[in-house]
Amino acid sequence: MSSALRVAGLAKRYGDSVVFEQVAFSVAPGEFVAIAGDSGVGKSTLLNCLAGLDDWSAGSIHHGDTDLGTLDATGRALWRRAHVGFVFQAFHVLPHLDVAQNVALPLMLLGQKATEARVADMLDAVGLAGLGARLPQQLSGGQLQRVAIARALVHRPGLLLADEPTGNLDPGTATRVMELLAQQTRAHGAALVLVTHSDAAAARADRVLRLTATGIRPATVG
Ligand SMILES: Nc1ncnc2c1ncn2[C@@H]1O[C@H](COP(=O)(O)OP(=O)(O)OP(=O)(O)O)[C@@H](O)[C@H]1O
Ligand SMILES: [Mg+2]
Repeated sequence: MSSALRVAGLAKRYGDSVVFEQVAFSVAPGEFVAIAGDSGVGKSTLLNCLAGLDDWSAGSIHHGDTDLGTLDATGRALWRRAHVGFVFQAFHVLPHLDVAQNVALPLMLLGQKATEARVADMLDAVGLAGLGARLPQQLSGGQLQRVAIARALVHRPGLLLADEPTGNLDPGTATRVMELLAQQTRAHGAALVLVTHSDAAAARADRVLRLTATGIRPATVG
């Protein structure tokens, strides 16, 4: 079976300034990989490249049989909609849509019917049953991040990318949101690549990788 994600010789530079180079790793379908690394080393940049949201300077990114480098911006956007879920540190929930509409958004963008039952199931799975009609401003930070997780998984993507998804939450809420993220990703059979500074979050991963300017290597947590 081909990997969910395969990165080879990846480099990101701004002019002469190197963010990272020689980044190579693979993620198996359904695998949970945590990425650690110092602030400013390029973790968010790497995740944005993996999602096709940012351009890279050298190397290749394959998702299954899709070579991301061969797609133009439109091709990447269409591919991303169908195959990727993204959870950001700041929730990126749309303020004028209610909770159910936010969760339904990926399905609508894919031209799929966003059935009430499908959205309700997703809200139920993340512990937000009955809150579909609320506006984001009527939710707590932990609840908002659960909306973001529901939205990232509702279209059943093969790959979930999460950039410090619990960075804005208090420790107790962060633990519960992280549990939910790992559990929901597994329930959907998706691969998860999680950028985190949290050892507790990294400890849940199947593998931890540490990003440096000169590559990405296995790391131990603790
Ligand atoms: N337009 C740009 N020109 C030059 N350097 C840039 C530009 N945009 C970003 N950078 C640099 O790219 C590097 C990587 O930033 P990135 O946000 O990916 O780091 P990070 O590992 O996610 O950090 P953090 O842990 O703080 O979130 C930073 O050192 C930043 O200064
Ligand atoms: Mg970052």
